[in-house]
Amino acid sequence: MNDSREKPVRSAAIMLDDGMASAINRNQMIRRTYENPPMDELMGIYAAWADDYDSDLIDGHGYKAPEDAVSSFVELGLAKNVRILDVGCGTGIVGLLLRAAGFTQIDGGDLSAEMRAVADGHNVYNQLFQLDMTADYKIAFEDAYDAVICVGVFGFGPPHVQHLHHIMGAAKPGAPVMVTVNGSGWNVRGWDASFGPHLQKHGITCVRNEPIRHMTKDGIGARLIELRRS
Ligand SMILES: C[S@@+](CC[C@H](N)C(=O)[O-])C[C@H]1O[C@@H](n2cnc3c(N)ncnc32)[C@H](O)[C@@H]1O
Repeated sequence: MNDSREKPVRSAAIMLDDGMASAINRNQMIRRTYENPPMDELMGIYAAWADDYDSDLIDGHGYKAPEDAVSSFVELGLAKNVRILDVGCGTGIVGLLLRAAGFTQIDGGDLSAEMRAVADGHNVYNQLFQLDMTADYKIAFEDAYDAVICVGVFGFGPPHVQHLHHIMGAAKPGAPVMVTVNGSGWNVRGWDASFGPHLQKHGITCVRNEPIRHMTKDGIGARLIELRRS
């Protein structure tokens, strides 16, 4: 039996916590992203949102997960020329922060062409490419990255916890994979119950699981998890 059958995801009538209600009141784009929409609808949302996404999230919601995740990434002490993949790179907020921290070899992957187009305008990514996080990333073993970072994508889904193991194929064995998970999504989607078994099933080790800031104006935090493939 696969993970998705073990852990069905509710697509409607989710219970709102206070942070989610606050976020939804501020921004109607966010509502559907919290309701497990089909992938084509989710991509339609990001296509329409791409140009306003940065100002909506940073100014409107106090989006701080990129800053906190990149700050922890910098503390890993990796060489500045390591090859990094920013998964679900969106408009490039994380790439900009990594470049400002001195990293020079950053690629970005995202399913949305419109979000990638905004990221491309920053000139911080060596390559930007289409990637679907709900399936095998199709990155050859010899092309795997020295480090992977993914901010603001997981929590409500898609992609869901049962897709998390796909990210490990993008990293060299033992390389750090840093992922943020929306704290409301962690609770609503039941990550407490599904996260550990998923890692165990796929032979993934979690070396960090700590709270960070996420949408500070909504009172929503996030988990910063750091994973290693064996
Ligand atoms: C909330 S944004 C986060 C973007 C960026 N990392 C940030 O912190 O601003 C979520 C991003 O995940 C992308 N995304 C959603 N589902 C995806 C999937 N299945 N495969 C790849 N990217 C996906 C969306 O296109 C969007 O750019």
